[in-house]
Amino acid sequence: MRGVILAGGNGTRLRPLTNLVNKSLLPVFDRALIEYPLNTLLKSGIKDILIVSGREHSGDFIEYLGSGRDFGANFTYRVQEKTLGIAHALLLAEEFVGKDLMTVILGDNVFEDTFSKAIKTFSGGARIFLKKVPDPERFGVATLKGKLVSAIVEKPKKALSPFAVTGLYQYDSKVFDIIRTLKPSARGEFEITDVNNAYIRNKKMKAEFVGGFWVDAGTFHSLAEAVEWAKKSEKT
Ligand code: G1P
Repeated sequence: MRGVILAGGNGTRLRPLTNLVNKSLLPVFDRALIEYPLNTLLKSGIKDILIVSGREHSGDFIEYLGSGRDFGANFTYRVQEKTLGIAHALLLAEEFVGKDLMTVILGDNVFEDTFSKAIKTFSGGARIFLKKVPDPERFGVATLKGKLVSAIVEKPKKALSPFAVTGLYQYDSKVFDIIRTLKPSARGEFEITDVNNAYIRNKKMKAEFVGGFWVDAGTFHSLAEAVEWAKKSEKT
């Protein structure tokens, strides 16, 4: 199992902070935001990790994280030249992953849970992780038919369910062929939601629910929530 952290993107909702610093390197209490998704992978047992970031900040990531030695892991880096979306960034993982399975996490997602069981039991196809939230319109939103996901809509005007698709995904290596078939969305990006809908159409998608705290720290309020959570969990 290979791990991939996607930390590209412009961080437009966190301007002006992201004019100088990549979103994933902003402080969340006592460390940079990226350490939370990184720890989610490490604690779940993944040690070979690719970090994809945009050109302007890739040097900062290497400086902050190094080779992986300090974390007991191996880090590889790739540069996404243009911010063309999450699926586009994932295509840069093709060589690193080869025919292996992968767990992909977004560089701004903070999870309380760890996922060792999900990692041990994943054997192919795809898996997403859902969380019931009060504001699903901010996210990809999954509609369920029984226990199966029937569709995902990216940031709908009016959500058909309260189930947000979190920024943690598992794929087999077929994902790269799927990404190559995609067209950019209305916002000009190759959407991870389109990848997930392809797996749903092929009946290869599984879903699980996230039990503990989760936040996508991409806005001022959600970044502040992440800081509050990190501060509280340090004390306990
Ligand atoms: C991305 C995905 C969205 C997902 C979210 C989770 O959105 O496009 O489907 O729900 O991450 O963090 P973004 O935050 O890049 O707009």
